[in-house]
Amino acid sequence: MISKECKRLAEVDFPIAVVSKHSAREKSIRHGHPSTLHLWWARRPLAACRSMLLALLLPDPCDPHCPVEFKTKACALFQQTMLPGKKPTTDAELRARLLHFIGDFADWDNVSNRTYLEVARWLVRATHPEETPLVVDPFAGGGSIPLEALRLGCDAFASDLNPVACLINKVLLEDIPRHGPELAEELRHVGAEVKKAAERELAEFYPRDPDGARPIAYLWARTVRCEAPNCGAEIPLVRSFWLCKKAERRRALRVKDEAKLKPGDAVALEIFTPASEKEVRAGTVSRAKATCLCCRTTLPPERVRAQTAAGGGHAARRRAGTPLPPAHRCRLRRRLEGPAAVEGRCGHEARGRSKPDPGVQKYGMMQWGANRPIRAATARERRTCSRRGRRWGW
Ligand SMILES: C[S@@+](CC[C@H](N)C(=O)[O-])C[C@H]1O[C@@H](n2cnc3c(N)ncnc32)[C@H](O)[C@@H]1O
Ligand SMILES: [Zn+2]
Repeated sequence: MISKECKRLAEVDFPIAVVSKHSAREKSIRHGHPSTLHLWWARRPLAACRSMLLALLLPDPCDPHCPVEFKTKACALFQQTMLPGKKPTTDAELRARLLHFIGDFADWDNVSNRTYLEVARWLVRATHPEETPLVVDPFAGGGSIPLEALRLGCDAFASDLNPVACLINKVLLEDIPRHGPELAEELRHVGAEVKKAAERELAEFYPRDPDGARPIAYLWARTVRCEAPNCGAEIPLVRSFWLCKKAERRRALRVKDEAKLKPGDAVALEIFTPASEKEVRAGTVSRAKATCLCCRTTLPPERVRAQTAAGGGHAARRRAGTPLPPAHRCRLRRRLEGPAAVEGRCGHEARGRSKPDPGVQKYGMMQWGANRPIRAATARERRTCSRRGRRWGW
């Protein structure tokens, strides 16, 4: 047992630059990382937890209280091991070697490397020969600290105030180590069942196109009528035609054959991949004014409000084209603009409150839930959806 007087490595030095580098890289790991098990917003990088735990468990070889036996054995271990790095012979060299090892072991690529694991566990055991150290984390969150404690061969105790965090920890620290492959298989099986059931239940809301393709999302926009004498076209109130601006998967909406549109024509939209920002047209609403896509007439704010107040704004469902190929299945967000945007965002949360904000009331929306564009998103919402769907005739 290391005496209390003996400083731990973390008290004298820490390879912070290299651990930070590996911690930052870990953010982009998409396979085999607990972050893919369940989202936890405050999750700490495993690299940082692993390194800090080691630096707290291991003694500083330069401390006069550091057991000679540990130093001798640790030097011998690093002499024999095939790991890259200097073979230590003095206390200072051993300290540097341990810090170097901690930095290297922070690398995600080394995390399941048998040699790194064995050396780390050996060092922990050599420092605590009488009993396995117990790492207690009462604020365990996503479980990074107890998971890394187990990796280093310690016992771990995890708890948290939040039941979601407790469940994550239970699955991560108990269920997966005990039943890993069967659990994964069971999860795949149940997931497939849920998917099948959801597809069956929601099929009526996603009717197939004539070519058999099935849409994966609907985009909604409120519409008003153009008031130019020779037009009367439907204007979708869309502030932005962008769907996704991420460089590697840019998507936007465009008006089909816009150049050929004549006053009064029906407007159709399609999804495309813009090569540059310039290819994406400006939205149809700005500062509550709406511009007709067919004749370019601008409807002033008071007329937009008058129409939405009179009819509540016609909620048009725009089908988001044919399904995108899997690689293109960027998260399509419904874009609701102008009054609908406000209402759409707030509607769900505000259910139960009697009146929407005054800003929305100007547009004739006097009640939450009235004329709310509706999504057929979850099975739980299905009954409500179909009831409203019948009322709205879709
Ligand atoms: C910063 S997070 C921990 C993150 C964790 N180290 C990880 O890597 O995921 C803090 C955690 O403390 C929990 N917490 C806050 N107050 C608590 C309390 N009084 N008792 C237990 N847990 C608490 C929160 O639910 C949250 O999960
Ligand atoms: Zn017009």
